[in-house]
Parts: sequence; structure tokens; C-alpha cells
Amino acid sequence: MAFETIIVEIEDHIGLIKLNRPDALNALNSQLISELLEALESADANDKVRCIVLTGSDKAFAAGADIKEMSEMSFVDVSNINLFGEVNARIGAIRKPIIAAVSGYALGGGCELAMACDFIIASESAKFGQPEINLGVIAGIGGSQRLTRFVGKSKSMDMNLTGRFMDSAEAERSGLVSRVVPNKKLMDEAMGAAQKIAEKSLITARTAKEAVNRSFETTLEEGLLFEQRLFHSLFATEDQKEGMAAFIEKRQAQFRDK
Ligand code: CAA
Repeated sequence: MAFETIIVEIEDHIGLIKLNRPDALNALNSQLISELLEALESADANDKVRCIVLTGSDKAFAAGADIKEMSEMSFVDVSNINLFGEVNARIGAIRKPIIAAVSGYALGGGCELAMACDFIIASESAKFGQPEINLGVIAGIGGSQRLTRFVGKSKSMDMNLTGRFMDSAEAERSGLVSRVVPNKKLMDEAMGAAQKIAEKSLITARTAKEAVNRSFETTLEEGLLFEQRLFHSLFATEDQKEGMAAFIEKRQAQFRDK
């Protein structure tokens, strides 16, 4: 597939997607969004891919939705196009794990895109923010919803109302990112994490993702029941037999996604 605004590589069972609009700090215009969603869905459907890594450049993961593209739009235009609703729905439907590797600016839609992934690994230079208020709008791909679940009401209100940026140390402290590493080590760390995931049973990894995601959508009681049912269901797989046998026999498990 010929993409113009992203670069896609498949390496050792990892689908690496790099946002690539350097002149606009990877601002998410409609072309980039459409190419990104296509690449994510294609990686999800590709048997060679077991984990996906989404990244940007050193300077910017993404500096938000494309302000130049949006500036002249009317209410009717944005609601008819519903581009960001599509981002939420289509990324939400990806079943393989997705890691966001974030360096530099992750602002507005960029921060939201990172949060729509399964977890975020950040470099020391990462800066997160929901500065939409400075443009007379609010977050549109989950910045008022997902960010609040990550960092709590007080910090989310602070970010959404003042538009200030959060540095990587604060982001790690607040639970927005899972790890922070020196800039030069970002891709090694993210690809290493993806490699670890790629070595697991894909059925189990997908199930773990589904279980964690359900915790955002339901009560604790329902979530615990859902987890129990998924846990039981994994005993129907060969990979459960293999994983436990390998432990007992003190060897590396050979998962076959069965
Ligand atoms: N949309 C379109 N173009 C953008 C952009 C964006 N979100 N962010 C940066 N760019 C462009 C700039 O216009 C500039 O292009 P030109 O050279 O043609 O002028 C180029 O990228 C480089 O940017 P700067 O010169 O501004 O770089 P800087 O280092 O001085 O500043 C920055 C970096 C602080 C990230 C600054 O670019 C900035 O504030 N960007 C906008 C951030 C923002 O408001 N994001 C939210 C967008 S709205 C949104 O995302 C809605 C939603 O929830 C979905």
C-alpha cells in the first residue's frame, strides 16, 4: 500500500506505524487519519503481525488535529464528516495490542491518539496536552474522557481548562504513561515491549486487552465476572496447556495461537 503521510514496516512480527508529516509536526489531517486507520486495520488482519507500535518523530508524536484543515469548517461540516468519531470507533475495534511510543509533542488529537492505544511509552522529551481551549474548542477524540480516567478529575480539568502541557515525569507520576526512557532509547524500549507481547499467545494477549478495556466500561462486579468468564475460556485453548506444561518442564513455551 502506498501511503504518503505514514510509514509502515513489519519487522519480527511487529507492525511499526510512523506518522510522517514532518512539516506539520504530524498534525492529523483527514488524509493521515484515513491512512492510519487503514494501516491499523491491515496490521490487525495480517497474520504476520502480533503487536503494533505507533510512533511519530523526535520532535512530535502529533501536534493535534490539523488546525488549518479545520479552521473554516462549519458545525454541519464537522458533524457530517465525524472524522474523530470514526477514529474512536475504528481504533477501538483493533484487537491486537497497540503501543504508542511518544517523543516530543503529543497535543490535542495527538495526546488523544496516544491514549487510544493500549499503553504509552514516552521519551524524556514527551509533552502531553489538551490545548484545544486556546482555539475556542474542546478535545474531540477523548481528551475530556480518557485523560480523566488516566489522571483523575483535577489534573484533567487543569489540562483541559488551562491548556498547559504535562512533561514526561508528570505524565509517568500521574499514570498517563507506563514508562519514561531517554530519547535515544525510546524505539528500542517500545520495540522490546512489543517483542515481549509478540512472543505470547495472540489469543491470550487479545483476551487480556479485552479484559482490561472492559474495566473502563462496567462496574467492578460485572468486570470481575467478565474476567472470570474469559479466564475460564482460555482453558479451552492449546496455548494454556502449552504455557503451563512449559512452566512445569522448565522450558520456553511454544505458543501456536490455538
Ligand atoms: N495543525 C496544523 N498545523 C500545525 C499544527 C496543527 N495542530 N501544529 C503545528 N503545525 C504546523 C505549524 O503551523 C507550522 O507550520 P508552518 O511552518 O507552515 O507555519 C509547523 O507545524 C511547525 O509548527 P510551529 O512553527 O508552531 O512549531 P513550534 O516548535 O514553534 O511549536 C507547538 C510547536 C507548540 C506544538 C505548536 O506548533 C502548537 O501549538 N501547535 C498546535 C497545538 C494544538 O493546538 N493542538 C490541538 C489541535 S486541535 C485538536 O487536536 C482537536 C481534537 O481534539 C481532535
